Amino acid sequence: MLPLCHLRFFSLFIFYGCALKIMATPSQTLSGTNQAMPVIGLGTWKGSAGPVEAAVYEALKVGYRHIDCAAVYGNEKAVGNGLQRAFAEGIVKREDVFVTSKLWNTFHKPEHVEPALKNTLAELQLDYLDLYLIHWPISFEYSGPNHLFPKLEDGTMKYSEDSYVATWTAMEQTVTAGLVNNIGLSNFNSKQIQEILDVAKIKPSVLQIESHPYLTQEKMLAFCAENGIRVTAYSPLGSPDRPWAKEGEPALLADPRLTDIAAKHGKSAAQVLIRFQHQRGVIVIPKSVTPSRILQNFDTFDFTLSEEDMALIRSFNRNFRFCIPAIMVNGESVPRDGKHPYWPFKEEL
Ligand code: A2P
Repeated sequence: MLPLCHLRFFSLFIFYGCALKIMATPSQTLSGTNQAMPVIGLGTWKGSAGPVEAAVYEALKVGYRHIDCAAVYGNEKAVGNGLQRAFAEGIVKREDVFVTSKLWNTFHKPEHVEPALKNTLAELQLDYLDLYLIHWPISFEYSGPNHLFPKLEDGTMKYSEDSYVATWTAMEQTVTAGLVNNIGLSNFNSKQIQEILDVAKIKPSVLQIESHPYLTQEKMLAFCAENGIRVTAYSPLGSPDRPWAKEGEPALLADPRLTDIAAKHGKSAAQVLIRFQHQRGVIVIPKSVTPSRILQNFDTFDFTLSEEDMALIRSFNRNFRFCIPAIMVNGESVPRDGKHPYWPFKEEL
């Protein structure tokens, strides 16, 4: 764990010692610790072990300094292997990489938080995280450290209604225990975030949510800005490899309005989607296991979308979510968690 004085040194070191690096990976400062969080990170959701290990290594080699992980992705060991290889080869030092992970839904009871975190740290082969998020406000019944999807006989989830406010207190203790620098939330709505803010001794510094031009989340961005919370966009490319994709759903990367803007700038649609988030102050974590795309997605700091481009892209908003987890019940794909009392997306904000 880095003590706070080292955190300040970390930011200064990057700013004064590696001017080139900060130009290549601009950062946002997090509330509370003032730690610098690079505005682009590599997403690892849906990356299977071999490819994700290579992707993490490749990303660090081309300049990424932020890796986004989660216990439920089932690949933290492989991510850890990629990190360790880069450390061993001197490509980057641990303190120069920002690593995020997330507490899964089965571990919301306060006594399960630190063991779940320690399991993630063991898999990632790290002794601290830069950021730990509660992955969802909803909770599942705890069924042992390795059982992440407890189900009833009919195939639906075994839910529990553990208080995420109590979970937050245990998250705060991971900071005091020196295991985590910053804590935050993912997939919470504004009322749920407010409940945390009302009691927090350590305020959430980051909210991670789905966001792209079909789900611009403008109200949530404003709410977070008012409360000093940074926002990270997941599925910024429309998550074409999401496991629950259905026929007929829109394909963001192929939207002709977007490909026209991309052609005008001599960039790809993916680069425009990433640049859109840079210009509106949103941290972004595109996932790729393809070396050429990993490089391409990082090459998003040398062009500017005009005000008209930005306004046009914002106008694509249709409040459409690509990421509604689904499960198979009686051979049919159904939304998984919509009936949980803490399901966050009943509310617009
Ligand atoms: P792959 O990992 O095979 O390279 P999201 O970040 O929205 O979840 O999207 C991830 C999906 O987008 C993956 O299928 C990934 O493919 C694909 N992808 C990532 N970068 C690009 C890119 N630059 N161009 C096209 N597709 C991309």
